[in-house]
Amino acid sequence: MSSKILVLPGDGIGVEVADQTIRVIEKLNEQGLDANYEKDLVGGASYDVNGEPLTEAVLEKAKNSDAILLGAVGGSKWDDVERSKRPEAGLLGLRKELELFANLRPALVFDALVDASTLKNDVVNNLDIMIVRELTGGVYFGQPRGIEDTSNGKKAIDTQVYHDYEIDRIARVAFDLASKRNNKVTSVEKANVMETGVLWREVVKETHKDFSDITLENMLADNCAMQLVRNPKQFDVIVTDNLFGDLLSDCAAMLTGSLGMLPSASLGAEKNGKRYGLFEPVHGSAPDIAGQDKANPIATILSLSMMLKYNLNKPELSNKVENAVQQILSEGFRTGDIYTDENQTLVSCSKMGDLIIERI
Ligand code: IPM
Ligand code: MN
Repeated sequence: MSSKILVLPGDGIGVEVADQTIRVIEKLNEQGLDANYEKDLVGGASYDVNGEPLTEAVLEKAKNSDAILLGAVGGSKWDDVERSKRPEAGLLGLRKELELFANLRPALVFDALVDASTLKNDVVNNLDIMIVRELTGGVYFGQPRGIEDTSNGKKAIDTQVYHDYEIDRIARVAFDLASKRNNKVTSVEKANVMETGVLWREVVKETHKDFSDITLENMLADNCAMQLVRNPKQFDVIVTDNLFGDLLSDCAAMLTGSLGMLPSASLGAEKNGKRYGLFEPVHGSAPDIAGQDKANPIATILSLSMMLKYNLNKPELSNKVENAVQQILSEGFRTGDIYTDENQTLVSCSKMGDLIIERI
C-alpha cells in the first residue's frame, strides 16, 4: 500500500526547501518508495489565508497521513498577531494534537564540513550526538500561564509541569536509541533548583533499571551547555525537557557549522497500530533570504531521510539519500551558509536539489 506524506512547507525558506525535498520524494518513487504526497498550509501562510495557523482540515489530513514533512514557520510579518494565532502556534498545535512527544535532533559533523564549524577541528571532527528533546510537556504547555494585572503592576506566569509518565516514556526513547549507538545517556535538568528536575532525575534513574547495559549520567543544564562547546564528543545521547532541549539543540547544531544541515524527527506514541511522525529541519524560516533560492535544502532532505528510516521503514532508501548528501559535499558543492573557501562551488537551493537528486 502506498504511503501518504503530508507536506507542510510553511513560511519563508520552508517553501523552497520543501520543494526540493518533494523532488527527492519523486525520485525515490522511481526506486521503490511508493509514496504520494499532498501539500497544504501551516503557520503564517495558513494564517494569511484562513485566519489561523493550523486549520481543523489540515489537522485531520495530518492524522490521516503516514508522515508529515514540515518546512519552517514564523517571520516578523506576524509579530503583532495574537499568540494563539501566531505561526508558531500551528507547529505547537501539531506537536500537541498528534502527541509527538519525542523529538530526535542529531548533531552530526560531516567530514567535508568540519571547517565550517567555529570550533577547532579536533573538537568537532567525527562528532555524532543525538539530542532527545521532550516535546509535548514542560513550560511550553504548562498551566497556568498568562499576563495579569495585580496591585503591584503586571505579572507574567509560565508553568513548568512534568508527570512521571512523560519523563519515563522519553527516557525509554533515549535509552533505546543509545542501545543502537554508543550506549550512553546523559540526562539533563536543573535538579539543583527545580522540582521538575528532581522528579526528572528520579524517574530516569528508575527507568534506567530496564536498560542496565546503558551508562547513565546526570548533568545540570547549564553545565551541559558549557560541556557541549568544551568537549562535545563526551556525549552520545542527551535526553532533556522541552525548553532545555530547545536551547541545547541549537547549541549542538552550531557545533556542526550550520543549522542548514540538521534534520529532526518528532515521534508520537503508538496508537491504533500507528505512530505519528513529523519531520522538519531544525532551522527556522530565515525570512532574510526567503524567496531568493539561496537556502540550504539539506536539513529538510535529511529530515525526509529520517522519515524513511523511522516511519516508512525504508532504511535502504534512507541510506541512499544520506550517501548522496555526503557525496555532493565531498565533491565541494556548497550553499551560502556552508561555503568557506574558493575551492568550493557555491550553488543555489534548487541547484543543490538537482545535484543530490542526480546522485540518488
Ligand atoms: C524549534 C523551534 C520552535 C520551538 C518554535 C518555532 C515554536 O524553535 O522547533 O526548536 O521553540 O520549539
Ligand atoms: Mn528552537
